[in-house]
Amino acid sequence: MIPQKTVQEILETAKVEDVVQDFVNLRRRGVNMIGLCPFHHEKTPSFTVSPTKNLFKCFGCGKGGDPARFIMEHENLSFPDALKYLARKYRIEIEEVELTPEMAAAQQEEESLYIVNEYARQFFEDQLFKTDIGKSVGLNYFKERGFREETIKKFGLGFAPKEGDVFTQKATQAGYKLDYLKKLGLTSRYDKDFFRNRVMFTIHNLSGKPIAFAGRIMEKDPKAPKYINSPETDVYVKNKILYGAFHAKKAIRQLDECILVEGYTDVISLHQAGIENVVASSGTSLTEGQISLIKRFTPNIKILYDGDPAGVKAALRGLDMVLEKDMNVKVVLIPDKEDPDSYLQKIGATAFQEFIGQQAQDFILFKTNLLLGEVKGDPVKKAGLVRDIVDSIARVPDPFKRSFYVKECARVMELEEEVLVSETNKAVRQVLQKKQFERQKEQGTQLSIVPEDGQGNPLPDLEVLPPQPARPTAAGHEFQERDIVRILIEAGSQIYDEKENITVAEFILSNIEEVLEDFDNKLYQQVARECHNMVVAHETLSPQYFIGHTDPNISELAVDLLHSPFEYSPGWEERDLYLTSQKMPEQNFTRDSLSSLRQFKLRKIIRLCEKNQERLKELKDGGDMGQLMRLLKVQTRLHEMRNELAKELGTVVLK
Ligand code: UTP
Ligand code: MN
Repeated sequence: MIPQKTVQEILETAKVEDVVQDFVNLRRRGVNMIGLCPFHHEKTPSFTVSPTKNLFKCFGCGKGGDPARFIMEHENLSFPDALKYLARKYRIEIEEVELTPEMAAAQQEEESLYIVNEYARQFFEDQLFKTDIGKSVGLNYFKERGFREETIKKFGLGFAPKEGDVFTQKATQAGYKLDYLKKLGLTSRYDKDFFRNRVMFTIHNLSGKPIAFAGRIMEKDPKAPKYINSPETDVYVKNKILYGAFHAKKAIRQLDECILVEGYTDVISLHQAGIENVVASSGTSLTEGQISLIKRFTPNIKILYDGDPAGVKAALRGLDMVLEKDMNVKVVLIPDKEDPDSYLQKIGATAFQEFIGQQAQDFILFKTNLLLGEVKGDPVKKAGLVRDIVDSIARVPDPFKRSFYVKECARVMELEEEVLVSETNKAVRQVLQKKQFERQKEQGTQLSIVPEDGQGNPLPDLEVLPPQPARPTAAGHEFQERDIVRILIEAGSQIYDEKENITVAEFILSNIEEVLEDFDNKLYQQVARECHNMVVAHETLSPQYFIGHTDPNISELAVDLLHSPFEYSPGWEERDLYLTSQKMPEQNFTRDSLSSLRQFKLRKIIRLCEKNQERLKELKDGGDMGQLMRLLKVQTRLHEMRNELAKELGTVVLK
């Protein structure tokens, strides 16, 4: 382990512009430097490096952090390895200290699992290429399927012999512990080989280490499973890995698209044909962990489905989750009874490339068309379809994309756009409420304040203007809490008052000491508490400390807070409301607080606007003229206030 002191030294020495410039061309723009983002494909630079803050951030793909983070992401290294890289670059000597026995044991066990798997991979490969039976049965099988030798080697394909315990015997004789063999599922409970008489597929992690295996039966046998797979272990967590990711990641980044197929052989076949940005979900529906994995490389997914309509319909349900993650999903149906592998082999690589290029359809439109085919003029079914589609659209976080879908789907379904708009808005609200409910449940706050949208809450009367601070809501408080945390992290050790010789952190914390326990957001609370402890212990707060924090949530938060030129409260974009600001983040702490207070007020007014709008809508059908006029007046006044505040803030409010 690298001693903490050295870690600090490395982090303080490494200059983000030096580190990044080894990989990216940067040019100056004002105090910052910009260039083309190495993490996603782009034509105009949105990758920003701030030498003063020692941070990088891409406003295209959202990646950001300190020099160590850059190396971790760019070189796919762990944090310690990134530190070692930086230490070499800056010629800082690392004197490693002993791990605690528990840490050493865990690390050693993990290492051992890789080593044993690597031994197994080599064994299966040798069986395939160097034994008669392997060559005549296994290698022959792969070759008949059209896999070339270089492909077979690249993907770690192999052969497991038929006899009961050849592998286990050999491995134990070579000194590998039976314990590990069993843990990895290579050896059964009865000390026999788990994989027997099967062709083998190695499953790699993102850095190319073998973490598991799948064995495919060679003849058709309705009684035996087609594939058998290694069990889950510390190094193989199924719902977080995608088959082929190691071989695909470079192409995915370059092409800014990930093709998703179902099977191992689909990945290998496409890769061999030059379509390298392919991964497989291994026959199951996509998990959240897998989606996050893809999202590290690209927001664009193209899913190739084997052409079985029932199967496809079932699979579509799972895709709403992908929409929620703000990814762009396209779908391609592979014709009847084929899968990507067989279809590619049938029509050839060029035709296949063309086919998936032409056939790719946007997921929501694809779903609409597919389901519409079944409606056939039945109004009940059509209502069901509308609900289904609206439910998908509502999950798209980007309001602009949402309105595009509303338009398109209304056209396809031959509906009034307005109908779809209002249905979608309802569904969006439900999604938001559900999310907030879950958020608050996670944070253990009281559930009674959940419906913060205030549905059914009485509308404030004219007299209430200008609005009194409404009933406090968790979200409102969180925004203030976030601001406090931002100031603590960014300016905590700056001098607040020279005469009294106190720092910003001391000032803030002494003011909020009593309410430290009342934070709504647990993460912000954690940071505030830690700051408090540090101040008490006379330690110095610094942005670097939080950026390099051992808790990844805190370090991510620090990067977010420090490197965002747009400061708006969470939830604003969810309300279809965009605040953009040309201003750079304020450096002055007092001005900061003032602005955050105004933002808070603006937020409240906007909420009132929305409530009023809803009231107005209801009244339009009801028809009390007097009341209607009253509400319209309220609305005008609210809008005025909103715009005034927005102007003060130097922001633009789009609605
Ligand atoms: P498929 O049945 O489509 O197999 O299952 P495949 O990949 O096309 O294989 P070939 O072309 O027939 O040889 C798709 C995926 O589902 C998982 C595997 O990951 C497979 O690649 N699967 C399938 C299993 O894990 N076990 C099974 O018994 C079947
Ligand atoms: Mn297949």
